[in-house]
Amino acid sequence: MRLLFLFCLFHAVHAVKIPFEVHTVSSFSGLTSSSTSSSYLERRDPVAIKNVANSIYVSDITLGGRTIPVMLDTGSSDLWVTGQVSNSQDSGKSVTLEYAVGEAAGDILYANLTFGNHSVSNQAFLLVTNTSSFSTNITSQGYSGLIGLGPNSGSSIRNKLNSDDTNRDAVLDRIFQQNQTSRNYITFMLGRANDPGSTVTGQLTISETVPGYENITNQPKLDVVTVPGLTDRDQHWQMYTDVDGIIGPDGQPIVYESIVPKAPKGQLVAIIDSGFTLPQVPRSVSDAIYGRVQGAQWNTDNELWTIPCGQMLNISVKFGGINFPVHPLDTSSSDFGLRDSSGNPICVGTFQPITSAFSLLGEYDLILGMAFLRNIYTLIDLGKFVDGSANDNGDAFIQLLSMTNTAAAHADFVNVRLGGVDTAGQSQYYLLPASEGQSSPESAKEKKQHLEEKVLSRWPYIFLGSFVLFCGIVGLIVWRCCCRRRCAERKKAKALAKKRRMNGLQMNPLKGGDAYYQLDEPTSSIHSLPYSEGHPPSYHSGYRV
Ligand SMILES: *[C@@H]1O[C@H](CO)[C@@H](O)[C@H](O)[C@H]1NC(C)=O
Ligand SMILES: *[C@@H]1O[C@H](CO)[C@@H](O)[C@H](O)[C@H]1NC(C)=O
Ligand SMILES: *[C@@H]1O[C@H](CO)[C@@H](O)[C@H](O)[C@H]1NC(C)=O
Ligand SMILES: *[C@@H]1O[C@H](CO)[C@@H](O)[C@H](O)[C@H]1NC(C)=O
Ligand SMILES: *[C@@H]1O[C@H](CO)[C@@H](O)[C@H](O)[C@H]1NC(C)=O
Ligand SMILES: *[C@@H]1O[C@H](CO)[C@@H](O)[C@H](O)[C@H]1NC(C)=O
Ligand SMILES: *[C@@H]1O[C@H](CO)[C@@H](O)[C@H](O)[C@H]1NC(C)=O
Repeated sequence: MRLLFLFCLFHAVHAVKIPFEVHTVSSFSGLTSSSTSSSYLERRDPVAIKNVANSIYVSDITLGGRTIPVMLDTGSSDLWVTGQVSNSQDSGKSVTLEYAVGEAAGDILYANLTFGNHSVSNQAFLLVTNTSSFSTNITSQGYSGLIGLGPNSGSSIRNKLNSDDTNRDAVLDRIFQQNQTSRNYITFMLGRANDPGSTVTGQLTISETVPGYENITNQPKLDVVTVPGLTDRDQHWQMYTDVDGIIGPDGQPIVYESIVPKAPKGQLVAIIDSGFTLPQVPRSVSDAIYGRVQGAQWNTDNELWTIPCGQMLNISVKFGGINFPVHPLDTSSSDFGLRDSSGNPICVGTFQPITSAFSLLGEYDLILGMAFLRNIYTLIDLGKFVDGSANDNGDAFIQLLSMTNTAAAHADFVNVRLGGVDTAGQSQYYLLPASEGQSSPESAKEKKQHLEEKVLSRWPYIFLGSFVLFCGIVGLIVWRCCCRRRCAERKKAKALAKKRRMNGLQMNPLKGGDAYYQLDEPTSSIHSLPYSEGHPPSYHSGYRV
């Protein structure tokens, strides 16, 4: 069991990934309070979600009386804000949170919080005073903090505060703990900017569904895949895809292999992560989606594919026997303002190859970021992940409802990218034969990591192999030793018996019992051996983007 201790060395760093600055900040498509009709008087108001250029989703919280826009992140579990928070108390502790875009460091404070219609007193949060290490200017992107909606066990703030501190839990846990009659779930839907056909109003609900979408509770319940033996740091809201679960632009399942050691054959482990703009997929999957597009180019600086903006790519992902199509406006993005060498706009392939550093120890394969999440209405039931939940302590699960109608999506794409004329079927958009498809290059650094990852993922088997071998050797030694003793004792006994017989006495000659102690000793030293010897080199540098 202690083998898993190694995994804890890798902190939950995979929270935010915004690969480069967004060029266009479109108008917010937030929810106005008037849009909640009076026929839902008994309902609590949903939390409005603003869409910042399809790259960040932001909601307001109130902390110590101040309204603060925070990024919504289902991939991490801490709350942090910048600026001043009045009516707060200092815990006297500080912590540094590491994200893919940089570090957030500061003191842990407590203040009263309101999130939607839910209030929590003395919520623990991190007051960040220095965001200079972020690769992005959060203020200009319209937010001043981040709310982690991931599992409480992954919260660094919680882990830093004393275990008898009743205020140390993450926001969702605090909300669910104080209402034992409601079920522990959230739902959310994300709007799509620059899509005239989009009818989705970005919103998040707690313990209730969005009116008109109640159906989601009838969708298949996808078990939250638990990281084996690890309920803390690296647990995410993650689930298995179906077998052959990613359908490529040619309508065929994409061939892939999971890096998660325990994943059932043909299935991938996918994380729901609203903190990632671009979904992260195995390199072979990204190549299969974009490598056959005429004019596709690998962009080395940003480590992603670029393709002509007019290329309509239909892909889908399957969960629980249901196909979830991805809107072609989400498969490639014009939001980044990239241009080719002749100055013409080119689009970004949004399903970016995952760098092995993100899942070095093989906890998951896919990070379903915003470009995928816009296509589904998502329900996450935290169940017994909530500490001290008396009412809802079943297993955690995820339910998904498709929000993308393929015919309507086609029409949207034609309007937005093809100037209203459906030229999607023209020959310049034919996919190249698979044999002529391009592959993205693996960088030297990544190759090295890949190798290390392979070694690490095979490590349990190497461990098992060595263990068996070691047991064999030890067994042999013990047996030989025992035998020698037995032989010696038998000889001695014989001699004694002979002597005693001579003296007219009887005895049982075989009693070399102390040999068994030796069996236990070396076995326990086998247990401890790999932890000291097998300590992997540090890969922390690999986490940085
Ligand atoms: C929810 O909060 C809004 C203001 O934020 C308020 O107008 C509304 O009455 C509240 N609803 C409930 C059910 O508490
Ligand atoms: C926080 O909320 C609690 C409960 O509503 C209240 O008693 C307390 O005065 C509030 N604290 C501050 C600093 O406003
Ligand atoms: C902020 O942090 C950076 C390193 O991340 C450091 O170089 C800089 O001096 C810090 N600024 C202040 C004002 O503390
Ligand atoms: C970040 O953006 C804000 C608003 O656009 C600006 O006032 C501030 O100077 C910027 N900060 C940095 C470090 O560039
Ligand atoms: C607890 O949740 C139930 C069901 O969602 C709701 O009707 C009730 O008003 C909530 N109670 C409090 C104190 O928030
Ligand atoms: C959703 O509910 C509608 C009726 O409101 C029904 O016609 C439809 O089949 C349901 N869909 C699913 C996926 O349950
Ligand atoms: C994408 O799917 C839509 C809807 O099924 C279809 O009309 C369109 O032809 C497809 N486009 C391509 C390029 O496969």
